[in-house]
Amino acid sequence: MADGVFVPPPPRLVEGAHCSSMQQYNDMYKQSIDDPEAFWGAIADQFYWKERHTGKFCDYNFDASKGKVFIEWMRGAKTNICYNALDRHVQGGHADRVAFFWEGNEPADEDRLTYGQLLERVQRCASGLRALGVARGHCVAVYLPMIPELVVTLLACARIGAVHSVVFGGFSADALADRVLDAKCDVMVTSDGFWRGNKLVHLKEIADHAAELCAARDHRLRRVVVVRHLPRLHQHQHPANGAGGGDAQPAKRAQFDVQASWDAARDLWWEDMMSEAALECEPEWMDAEDPLFMLYTSGSTGKPKGVLHTTAGYMLYAATTFKYTFDYHLEDVYWCTADIGWITGHSYVAYGPMLNCATSVMFEGSPFYPSGERPWQIIDKYKVSKFYTAPTAIRALMRLGDDIVTKHSRQSLKVLGSVGEPINPEAWLWYHRVVGGGRCAVVDTFWQTETGGHVLTPLPAATPTKPGSACRPFFGVQPALLDENGAEIAGEGEGYLVFRRPWPGIMRTVYGNHQRFETTYFKKFNGFYCTGDGARRDADGYLWVTGRIDDMLNVSGHLLSTAQIESALIEHPSVSEAAVVAVPHSIKGEAVYCFITNKQGEPWTDELRKELILKVRERIGAFAAPDYLQCAPGLPKTRSGKIMRRVLRKIAQDDRDLGDVSTMADESVIALLFQHRTAQLL
Ligand code: PRX
Repeated sequence: MADGVFVPPPPRLVEGAHCSSMQQYNDMYKQSIDDPEAFWGAIADQFYWKERHTGKFCDYNFDASKGKVFIEWMRGAKTNICYNALDRHVQGGHADRVAFFWEGNEPADEDRLTYGQLLERVQRCASGLRALGVARGHCVAVYLPMIPELVVTLLACARIGAVHSVVFGGFSADALADRVLDAKCDVMVTSDGFWRGNKLVHLKEIADHAAELCAARDHRLRRVVVVRHLPRLHQHQHPANGAGGGDAQPAKRAQFDVQASWDAARDLWWEDMMSEAALECEPEWMDAEDPLFMLYTSGSTGKPKGVLHTTAGYMLYAATTFKYTFDYHLEDVYWCTADIGWITGHSYVAYGPMLNCATSVMFEGSPFYPSGERPWQIIDKYKVSKFYTAPTAIRALMRLGDDIVTKHSRQSLKVLGSVGEPINPEAWLWYHRVVGGGRCAVVDTFWQTETGGHVLTPLPAATPTKPGSACRPFFGVQPALLDENGAEIAGEGEGYLVFRRPWPGIMRTVYGNHQRFETTYFKKFNGFYCTGDGARRDADGYLWVTGRIDDMLNVSGHLLSTAQIESALIEHPSVSEAAVVAVPHSIKGEAVYCFITNKQGEPWTDELRKELILKVRERIGAFAAPDYLQCAPGLPKTRSGKIMRRVLRKIAQDDRDLGDVSTMADESVIALLFQHRTAQLL
């Protein structure tokens, strides 16, 4: 049976759209599959190439049983993504076009940057980094808030062929150190700190701590470039600095100055690097398959994976998905709320928009600060026409009621995107009806850090959508559903979501561990890239992503591994065992539920709970903090000692229908766990 009702594309979006009908989508999709070289070749013609490719247009092996898995697009072609994102537009007469309207945490903090200004700053930054000894192939750690310098740093790295590794500003010193060490970065770009809502984050202190942790493991961060962000803010009176403004801000600033340590041999202010740097910086001409960036994502073993993306394929894919999924035109103003610390920010705040010469809003703050009206104020302030956010934010904003949305005009809106987790139909319909006033297309985009860009998505002027479905594959993407044995499910059905062949933006390897790349994504089903997600295909051929089928949790759109949280918890001296499962959460999508077995004789106290939460915050970051902790005198295990998470998930949800428990070694733990459950929730 076909699920859901079709919501047709808004008629007003059709005229002039890049893809304006299902017929056109089907034709383009067919060509992208039948003749990828013609399809992507025509797209590549719109970019600048120092040299065109020499080898096969696309070469790959997806079958781990037949040898090394590899993916190559346009091997031998030479280009530079920064050149394509900046110089190409400036030379094309767009120097004065706004690339970013920067909106700070406080509504009064704002800035704008044109393509011409960006090119200037990027060249200086690139020269500055070169002067610090950063060269082609080196990896630079980037630990910055959502400020223009973040985009400048990324493009500067790309310009000189250095690989950037952005670490989200919410990660802890431990997590930052792990990533710096894994990629052997010896240069980092960070900032003094930033405000998020009412909270001041001392980023430099965390970076200093990470540098110490690296030093303790024999790795030296040679240079740390520090953007002075806090003092330049708040030239206005700031409510965040104490009710009614006043003079609280200088006090806070002084607090920072006192606290931040400064290693004169290592640390360098950004402004000093920039003022001493050469004005011009020739781009390095990179091979199509040279690394562009790495970005860590959670792995089911607990150790994060450095997902590596390369130059040309990523460039074509980020640009093309941006253009079609949002139907971007030069008159649009686009706003993606994601942090650049995640892949959504890489592809759809930085590269995708800039490769299309787009004008975007870059937002430092939170959608709920100073109030839940902020997103709608920003949309009206900049006349945003294409808006992209996460279901978690949509659900939380929805709770605040319709009035605070509808009192703002929102007339400029045309396309509303969703990303990061499954969107429930209720939130989808609210987004469509209230935020979009029924006039906008909603595009639910399914993809991953690994895919580089959207792989399942509707196109706003072409695809009749269904609330809750990511609909159809993007150009060049061939999805399939497999059962546990690897047999393909044709027609309606549910199974593992896999892809049969590469698209240009797919990751190329796990940095430093190609074997892990093969094992994680290609060994389960020979010949397919395995997403780790389940999906259902309905009678109309629409795909509905149902969520992870491995040991991952998706909390507010952040992918976390149960193993990683468990290993933080068992570091506590009172804990002997920990098991983490996901439970549904009305706003976050999923919440972190932990079962803790104490060491013999250790009491279960409020103090212990607090310490356990702190452990996770220290090891990973505040966004991974457990929502629920329950004492577990024992854990349900199979006779071979494997924890039965399926059973724990049921207990966490207070669902007594446990299914088959015949393989469980000791069933008596179940009654105990249910008993403890009610008493001990946070
Ligand atoms: O489980 C899927 C979920 O997010 C995972 C990827 O997380 P990450 O690599 O952090 O990238 C997030 C931003 C692209 C996927 O394996 N996911 C992402 N988008 C959707 C989704 N699940 C359902 N529907 C989506 N639209």
